[in-house]
Amino acid sequence: MSSIPVRLGILGCGNVGAALVKIIVEDQGLIESQTGEVLEIAAIAVRDLSIERPGWVSRNLLTDDPFKLVNDPSIDIIVEVMGGYDPARVLIEEALRSKKSVVTANKTLLSDFGEEISQLARSQGRDVFFEAAVAGGIPLIRSLKVSLAAERVRRVTGIVNGTTNYILTRMSEDGIPYGEALRNAQELGYAEADPTADVEGIDASAKAAILASIAFGRKVRFSDVSREGITSVTLDDFEFAKRHGYTLKLLAICEWLESDEGSEGDISVRVHPAMVPLTHPLASVRDAFNAVFVEGDSVGELMFYGRGAGGMPTASAVLGDVIDAAHNIRYGSIERHVDRPQARILAIDELQYQFYIAIDVSDRPGVLAQVATVFGANGVSIMSMEQVGLGQEARLIFITHQAKEHAVQKTLAEVRELAAAKRLVGFIRVLGKIDN
Ligand SMILES: NC(=O)c1ccc[n+]([C@@H]2O[C@H](COP(=O)([O-])OP(=O)(O)OC[C@H]3O[C@@H](n4cnc5c(N)ncnc54)[C@H](OP(=O)(O)O)[C@@H]3O)[C@@H](O)[C@H]2O)c1
Repeated sequence: MSSIPVRLGILGCGNVGAALVKIIVEDQGLIESQTGEVLEIAAIAVRDLSIERPGWVSRNLLTDDPFKLVNDPSIDIIVEVMGGYDPARVLIEEALRSKKSVVTANKTLLSDFGEEISQLARSQGRDVFFEAAVAGGIPLIRSLKVSLAAERVRRVTGIVNGTTNYILTRMSEDGIPYGEALRNAQELGYAEADPTADVEGIDASAKAAILASIAFGRKVRFSDVSREGITSVTLDDFEFAKRHGYTLKLLAICEWLESDEGSEGDISVRVHPAMVPLTHPLASVRDAFNAVFVEGDSVGELMFYGRGAGGMPTASAVLGDVIDAAHNIRYGSIERHVDRPQARILAIDELQYQFYIAIDVSDRPGVLAQVATVFGANGVSIMSMEQVGLGQEARLIFITHQAKEHAVQKTLAEVRELAAAKRLVGFIRVLGKIDN
């Protein structure tokens, strides 16, 4: 058993940083007996030294100069849990150039510069680990990178944002509208005062880009992800979904699609609300939990489930990375690294789905025929249609057969031009196949 401590410089002492310090301070004996590693916190960088810190954070370890840590030759591993691009990117790069390994939970940075940072780490003979960047405490990245390294992964479908899953669960189970469910999430601390990153699917898109890169071994960036949030999901959508044996979830979907030539695949990465069959394992993921469903050629179907956020679960994932980095430093090894070529991204326009579409129209004879004609003219075949009276207006609810996204978008643009069409009130893609 080793007794030479591995020295850590921790950048950030917020939710994740403070939880990590707690585990390292309180579970030192367990960590050493289970892993053989002795971890010593050399210093912790924060922005504001005047902020009160939890009792287990020793004040004399704190500094407001993060560059002091990355340039300190006595520090072996930098743990970056401050978030954002700046100065996190420069700090990580400086740490790697100073021959330190890096552990980060920074999905924002990795979803844009993950490959560059990994290449820099390799060129310096050091590791960069980021298990906590996707789905917090769920051991997903390492499973994809290590256990499924040679698997032909076909699809990764995830509920990777706990805030939106909580909001959608409240809408579904308590029948409260989006705005109230959001306020509820804010009161409980699940949603920020400015919820944009969560409800607009930005956070989920960053995670989707990282997942696709790892699952398919290609460079996928945040800007490659088609994104749609949950702000327009209504209780009426839920009511329709339930009647047909579905629920609504915000999904991150990463898909490998064989190209016509068969040699190189295309990758589709998108985040959007979807109707999920109640029989699908993801339908039962409630509240702020995350889950990721992986489909591979040899392994079949796998599901990873757990707490996707929160200080302690995330710190648990960070600690696992720290132990791996410490082990590699001790034995002079680094993680296996493969260069990821640029992905060929297939635009969402080219994908086929069934669609749920709800349109409010003037309740006059002939309007349904007008709308149906537009669908037909664009080659979008209607599988079922319901009409609900709303006084002067009527709601037309369509489920289409499989149709290309661009044909459906063109259909909707033309329907909006019809004088009788008042508003589009529902537009949701269906996961799998709806056939009743
Ligand atoms: N929270 C989660 O559940 C979760 C889950 C998965 C991944 N993550 C990722 O983990 C990272 C940290 O998240 P968090 O929730 O712990 O954030 P947080 O609570 O906002 O903490 C950020 C910490 O970084 C410090 N900091 C920020 N800018 C700094 C600067 N320029 N110099 C020195 N210190 C600086 C802050 O200092 P002060 O305390 O002085 O303000 C604070 O201690 C983010 O990348 C996040 O995306 C978080």
